[in-house]
Amino acid sequence: MSELASESVIAVRPRKRAPSAGEGGHRAEGRDKVTGAARYAFEHPVADAVYAYPLQATIASGQIGALDAAEALAMPGVIAVLWGGNTHPFEGKPFELSLFSRSDVTYRGQLIGAVIADTLENARAAAAAVHVDYTPAEHDVVLRADHPGLYRPETVNARLPTDTGYGDVAAGLAGPVFAGTVLANAGARVDVTYTTPVHHNNPMEPHAAIASWDSAGVLTIYDSTQGPSVDRDTIAAVLELDPARVRVISPHVGGGFGSKAITRPHAILAAVAARAVGRPVKVALTRQQMFALTGHRTPTIQHLELAADADGRLAAVAHDVIEHTATRTEFAEQTAACTRVMYGARAMRTTHRLARLNVPAPSWMRAPGETPGMYALESAMDELAVALGMDPVELRVINDPAAEPESGLPFSSRNLIACLREGADRFGWAGRDPRPGVRRRGRWLAGTGVAASTYPARRRPSKATVDKLADDGAGGEYEVRIAAADIGTGARTALGEIAACALGVDAARIRVVLGDSALPDAPWAGGSIGTASWGSAVAAACEDLLKDGVHGGADTTEDVAQDSGWARHSFGAQFAEVLVDPLTGEVRVPRLLGVFAAGRIIDPVLARSQFIGGMTMGLSMALFESTAVDATAGGFVGMDLAQYHIATCADVPSVEAFWIEEEDPHRWPGGGKGIGEIGITGTAAAIGNAVYHATGRRVHDLPITPAKLLSP
Ligand code: MOS
Repeated sequence: MSELASESVIAVRPRKRAPSAGEGGHRAEGRDKVTGAARYAFEHPVADAVYAYPLQATIASGQIGALDAAEALAMPGVIAVLWGGNTHPFEGKPFELSLFSRSDVTYRGQLIGAVIADTLENARAAAAAVHVDYTPAEHDVVLRADHPGLYRPETVNARLPTDTGYGDVAAGLAGPVFAGTVLANAGARVDVTYTTPVHHNNPMEPHAAIASWDSAGVLTIYDSTQGPSVDRDTIAAVLELDPARVRVISPHVGGGFGSKAITRPHAILAAVAARAVGRPVKVALTRQQMFALTGHRTPTIQHLELAADADGRLAAVAHDVIEHTATRTEFAEQTAACTRVMYGARAMRTTHRLARLNVPAPSWMRAPGETPGMYALESAMDELAVALGMDPVELRVINDPAAEPESGLPFSSRNLIACLREGADRFGWAGRDPRPGVRRRGRWLAGTGVAASTYPARRRPSKATVDKLADDGAGGEYEVRIAAADIGTGARTALGEIAACALGVDAARIRVVLGDSALPDAPWAGGSIGTASWGSAVAAACEDLLKDGVHGGADTTEDVAQDSGWARHSFGAQFAEVLVDPLTGEVRVPRLLGVFAAGRIIDPVLARSQFIGGMTMGLSMALFESTAVDATAGGFVGMDLAQYHIATCADVPSVEAFWIEEEDPHRWPGGGKGIGEIGITGTAAAIGNAVYHATGRRVHDLPITPAKLLSP
């Protein structure tokens, strides 16, 4: 691949290098991680622990009948076999957490029981010897645009309206009209459907938990979670315990991408099993088990209709989304929400419809909503630019709205145009030949593409404390305490820097203690709200400490209640260069460049890592990621990292991220707008648009595989 890595389609001008390690400080927990001292959920030393291995339904729909555990119970080391027949299922709780259903199976892989044994191996071997009778019913796992069960949910996620609209969309889509006659050759129209497949989060650290109950009935649980406070509250609610009697500990978490932002059944299983056998219980899901038990991104079918005047101004935009949810749990991905934010069309319609299928509940996966939505919108914008004969950067610039189109709210700050301009400049976009399929580099067809990025900036209430510890003669040390989660993003480091800034001391003198529900309550590391929410509380606690110099505390509930009245979003622009082998259909992305405007950047090293991580995940989505759905067996297949391909180093020779120094005049204390998710939004569109530019082929269903590019 050296030919690809070194040879660029476009002459690249000398440009500023992205910041490198050392320019933004260090990782607070770096030494612990590289020496192995950092402990993840499954690694905590707990005396006398035994192991639970899940029993999962082998049908996608139907009833559980008899369960024969005799053979399993006779096997070495087996302590118990738990299922709905010998435990008390929780009523009225989220279905996924209602262990164990005595009767109903609604998706393949549903947790129906567990084997507890002295070792993980013994538990696993015995699980294979448990015999379960089922009465299967017909299942339905395939999403289609004409699904008879499509319905309109009350709201979509983030409590957003399901459908919105303004203006006369039908008239706008009909094109410019004069005296009742549609004018020809004036403007352009795009009517296109994009589909995205099921995606799985696949964080590096599989979901795991260790649960133990003390003699007073207090539950301690080491869990791989994105939010110890929220996890504690959910576990307490499901087990019907006072939250004060549950403690969640999670000092280090190996990624989540949303899959650890809500409590998963493994944690409930550990708690139930530990109570049943009277000993601490460890549960570690296998990679395969994660595909049914830790959430996924819904597939989408997105119909986009765009019409523009000859000068490119959008006359109308319609974005109609179809997606799936589970039979018992509604999860309504807000896929068209981004369209309400992005461009100033004269008329707009967005809708969401769901089909209830025999699938596990879909859930959050990095930039839920914006990731599939921006893929479709930004691909359609490229098709519109082609139809208009207009540069796709200029099409976006001319439609940049003065206020949020749907709500009319003013933007707290919006620098999409600046991102597009700086990105075009750094990438070398000027002078791009728009003709598709005409550039060759050796045997490869070459092309470039652009797309915009966006993600909302939100906060949730958080508490924090800070204490000045005993004076050591060098000015003393400070300890910040907050139930935040560091899921690999560097939250400890960023919060330490925010505290240092607020206290006016060196960051090396701040110790941040997080990852424990016994600490002051905090929201999750999710929805890109972590740093802004926690940072506001930490900054306020530090200001409080400055009053007496010893102790400070803060609760941002009232402050956060004042956040309304502004449209708060981050924006970005991504540029991709692709090479496509016309014989094999292989797509390579030698260069991916993003420029983002996301408020104040706390730490450049950590920020760059989030941006390029998101972009890499977007590249992965564009070319590789897809979970196959088996209509016959009624479930997901290919459930491992050999078959669910994720971009590796060889797939991303150059991913660069830059940012605009954005001073949001309405920003929050301590924090920027959040950067965990925006990087993945728009990437797949930029790559798809570049593939079109290279080949003249527009692939409308992700991922863009060789087979699709080669099909007649
Ligand atoms: Mo992120 S998907 O909101 O954890």
